[in-house]
Amino acid sequence: MLRSLREPGDRLTVQLADTCCRRLAEVGVELDTRTVELGTRSALADGFTRCLDHCCLTGPHLTRPAACRVLVICTITMKWLSENRATALLRRLARSASSRRRYYPPVTEAELPEHVARNRVYWDEVNAPLYTAPGARAWARQEITWGIFGIPEDELHALPADVAGMDVVELGCGTAYFGAWLARRGARVIGIDNSAEQLKTARRLQDEHDLDFPLIHGNAEDTGLPDASFDLAVSEYGAAIWADPYRWIPEAARILRPGGELVFLGNGTFWVLTVPETDDEGPATDRLLRPYFGMHRFDWAGQSGVEFHLGYGDWIRLLRASGFEVLDLLEIRAPDDLSELRGDGLVDPDWARKWPAEQIWRARKMKSKRKRRRA
Ligand SMILES: C[S@@+](CC[C@H](N)C(=O)[O-])C[C@H]1O[C@@H](n2cnc3c(N)ncnc32)[C@H](O)[C@@H]1O
Repeated sequence: MLRSLREPGDRLTVQLADTCCRRLAEVGVELDTRTVELGTRSALADGFTRCLDHCCLTGPHLTRPAACRVLVICTITMKWLSENRATALLRRLARSASSRRRYYPPVTEAELPEHVARNRVYWDEVNAPLYTAPGARAWARQEITWGIFGIPEDELHALPADVAGMDVVELGCGTAYFGAWLARRGARVIGIDNSAEQLKTARRLQDEHDLDFPLIHGNAEDTGLPDASFDLAVSEYGAAIWADPYRWIPEAARILRPGGELVFLGNGTFWVLTVPETDDEGPATDRLLRPYFGMHRFDWAGQSGVEFHLGYGDWIRLLRASGFEVLDLLEIRAPDDLSELRGDGLVDPDWARKWPAEQIWRARKMKSKRKRRRA
């Protein structure tokens, strides 16, 4: 049908098939007419992109005509999509439509908190080009590994043993290789990232590897995703260190289902306390350079981006206050036979054999008290 739109200005009107009407009815959209004006080819393309990025995930906010258009666009576009992806999109739309009728507008630039706006510029303009090659290398690998030393998941067991069939969100996905590793294992993954440039690389790599999953340009502190819609939230140096934990941890709790797990890797606390202020002063040493108490926002000299790191007690209190039980804190030791060292040279492997340069928190969203009593 799309091919019949020769000129960008050609308009398309379709008669809805029975299946399409049934799908619309399933998500609560009743039609007065079966004739739908879909608009021009460019409007369709734009509509479908938005549909992937926002609408399918937040279906209930749609007005009836808009919901109708989006679903029809979905239905038409399904012809170009693998069966799985189309089905997953519709299932998500149906699920969110039936669960609650809420409107999650996409976050606009003006509404971004100051640190998120700063990090957007920093990642778009400074860091994204530096992450294309490492992103491509990671996409090419099949094995799940963690952090700068590339420690295999098979050794760490940070993730649930079997992610097949799980709804997974990657918070601060960057080039989305981590999401790709999980999608290859059968998870239904959605990646969200604050940087359009990082997502451009992620989309290109999706095409190269013929592996599609939705990528949302947004803020992990305020995702706009429906409540209780994921089984697993992961972040490897994404929201984990670039978003404010007092905002993104409660948001992760909101979008996880009870029993869902949150697994995130960031810099080790000792490293944060001992690394010199600027890159050219070299890696972390054995001297404490800043206070432990009050750790939160880090505006490093010579870096326009903003990072966030907490002390252990603050992490535990925040996770618990947000409804998580803490399952583990994996403190990563650099392997003796180091085969990989990613990053910016600010970790000395000898140092990282004595102190944890990286740490992974594992937490599980608790079931509500009422549900626990019934169980
Ligand atoms: C180091 S990358 C993480 C991706 C990948 N695991 C990696 O290590 O390359 C950090 C990512 O976090 C993203 N980010 C920063 N703040 C964010 C926020 N508030 N919400 C979502 N993503 C954010 C950045 O845009 C960047 O792509």
